[in-house]
Amino acid sequence: MVENHTPDNLEIAPRHLKFDVEEELKTLWHGGDVFKTAFFNALSMQFPLGEHQFIEAVRKYRDRIEDPKLQQQIRGFIGQEGIHSREHKRYNEALRARGYDIDGMDRRFEKHMKFVHSLPASRQLGGTCAAEHYTAVLAHSLLSNPDALEGASPKMKALWRWHAIEETEHKAVAFDVYQNTVRNNRMRVIIFFFVTYNFFKYTFLNTCSMLKTEGKLWSVRTWLGGLNYLWGKPGVLRKCLPEFLTYLRKDFHPWQHDNRVLIDEWKSHFDDEYRSATV
Ligand SMILES: [Fe+2]
Ligand SMILES: [Fe+2]
Repeated sequence: MVENHTPDNLEIAPRHLKFDVEEELKTLWHGGDVFKTAFFNALSMQFPLGEHQFIEAVRKYRDRIEDPKLQQQIRGFIGQEGIHSREHKRYNEALRARGYDIDGMDRRFEKHMKFVHSLPASRQLGGTCAAEHYTAVLAHSLLSNPDALEGASPKMKALWRWHAIEETEHKAVAFDVYQNTVRNNRMRVIIFFFVTYNFFKYTFLNTCSMLKTEGKLWSVRTWLGGLNYLWGKPGVLRKCLPEFLTYLRKDFHPWQHDNRVLIDEWKSHFDDEYRSATV
């Protein structure tokens, strides 16, 4: 039995924000850096369909949850992911202005998501737990490592930090639903490897697609800079690696890593940061 580490007083409620980033997305918004911009945009490309799928997967088990606290957290989770999905759809539409092949990337991912939809509900929920682990670890990295968004425009920083905060708040919801219903630890770990492969595959392919449009797909300098950013210094992914792997532990629970201090810190300057970034 996995011990539940979810804090008792955890608040998960959607913030009804609408970001004003259309103009930013016409530019290389991450400090003029083509790789970093493409990498974040590539992540965004997966969110609308991915997050929609997470909601569906959790909904299938909602009726089996008796704990009123977890029921409330599920409501918060669905609300947050729904708004993320909507805002990233707007984000991705705005990327068309740069000439990116949005339809091609969407078609490719849709095909994969169609396959995910055809899986048994328990596997869909297991996939959601693994994907939520990836988003939560990346979110922690973005929030705790100022270098990750260094040079990005203030509005884009605000958007990514908002998403990262809410991913932190609801990081254990799908997991707690899984532990209350499916409870198959072996399957959870096996699915993690599939999700890992697909997460990196689509992030890589989408990054390549955007670099191609930018005329930088074969630029050694661009790739070296990108590799340095992800695996060298600051090493956004390298720093995440040990945390990614904690998922394989038998007694893993997302709140074993209690990082609520990041949420509190963010809340303390929420107003200033968001008044100017949203409409
Ligand atoms: Fe999200
Ligand atoms: Fe999430």
